[in-house]
Amino acid sequence: MRLLITGGAGFIGANFVRQTVVERPDIRVVVLDALTYAGNRASLDSIADRIEFVRGDITDAELVDRLVGGADAVVHFAAESHNDNSLARPWPFVQTNIVGTYTLLEAVRRHDVRYHHISTDEVYGDLAAAAPAFTENTPYNPSSPYSASKASSDMLVRAWVRSFGVRATISNCSNNYGPYQHVEKFIPRQITNLIDGVRPRLYGAGNQIRDWIHVEDHNRAVWTILEFGRIGQTYLIGANGELDNKSVVQLILTEFGRDPDDFDHVTDRPGHDRRYAIDASLLRTELGWEPRYADFRAGLAATIGWYREHETWWRPGKADVETAYAQAGERVL
Ligand code: NAD
Ligand code: TYD
Repeated sequence: MRLLITGGAGFIGANFVRQTVVERPDIRVVVLDALTYAGNRASLDSIADRIEFVRGDITDAELVDRLVGGADAVVHFAAESHNDNSLARPWPFVQTNIVGTYTLLEAVRRHDVRYHHISTDEVYGDLAAAAPAFTENTPYNPSSPYSASKASSDMLVRAWVRSFGVRATISNCSNNYGPYQHVEKFIPRQITNLIDGVRPRLYGAGNQIRDWIHVEDHNRAVWTILEFGRIGQTYLIGANGELDNKSVVQLILTEFGRDPDDFDHVTDRPGHDRRYAIDASLLRTELGWEPRYADFRAGLAATIGWYREHETWWRPGKADVETAYAQAGERVL
């Protein structure tokens, strides 16, 4: 099998590429990645000689057509992925997430190639505290330019399945954590701040809730759907990992042996989604997937250990991220 993986130098994509190469050595992997600020070739160092890496943009129709034409399946991770960036500069989100997905869909349509689309639970908007978790039937209600661009890309996929018979599946996953996540994101930002002797930064009161899943569990679910999922079907991926942001920061502080209240409240995110929660019953009952990282605290401790041991991987981007947050107006409350 020849597999084209877009965004394979990003957080989730790179974990997927490494997992695939190690666990499925018969598969020929081609990675297409533009190496934006979020992409890092070093994330693929351990398997670099076992893949083909193409630096290029998913909106480049000629390049995409050639690569898709040589593949049996495409798994599409490439995206602009950070909400805070989408509030400051929405255009790259429209270009990559919407136009990029359109470009891939046209290519898989022309070449009749199996396509799996990676998306997020954020397309559903947010939930009130006591509301039932998202299911595959929850209406779309995105809040930010990021989630609106992902929602748009999902809609394109659905239309290409129905109108053109494209053989596609979609997965919408909750918040991922684990190794190789960019330091702009919540958990790696706090871990690397603490390594640098800086207090963690909690947006607003910190009572927003996210549903955490380890990146390896997400990627195993993607493989399950790619192999056994029904064409045209959307599957939600989540591991019952609901926790409020303040509790996450306090767990990280505790792992560092620090006082759990040793953090700063900072300016809140505009339009901040209150709660995400996933009901993954369909994936569990129909396809038999189960997460392996049941204990968030243990997964978090392992992730902290990884950042401690891989400073050379994250250090180059750290100062720029903190400067960008300061320039965007973040201040201690
Ligand atoms: P990331 O920002 O870490 O990586 C994105 C990758 O895409 C980078 O390597 C980047 O260079 C590449 N890329 C960006 N624009 C490109 C373009 N125009 N052409 C080619 N490559 C381009 O993102 P991530 O956190 O790994 O997320 C991967 C996917 O998973 C995204 O589609 C995201 O919406 C989805 N997702 C993420 C989470 C999460 O918690 N991080 C949760 C659910 C779904
Ligand atoms: P993030 O990792 O950006 O993911 P998402 O916006 O996709 O959920 O943020 C996770 C949560 O953490 C979100 O509620 C915003 C909050 N947050 C902080 O409190 N402090 C921070 O420094 C960051 C980056 C995020």
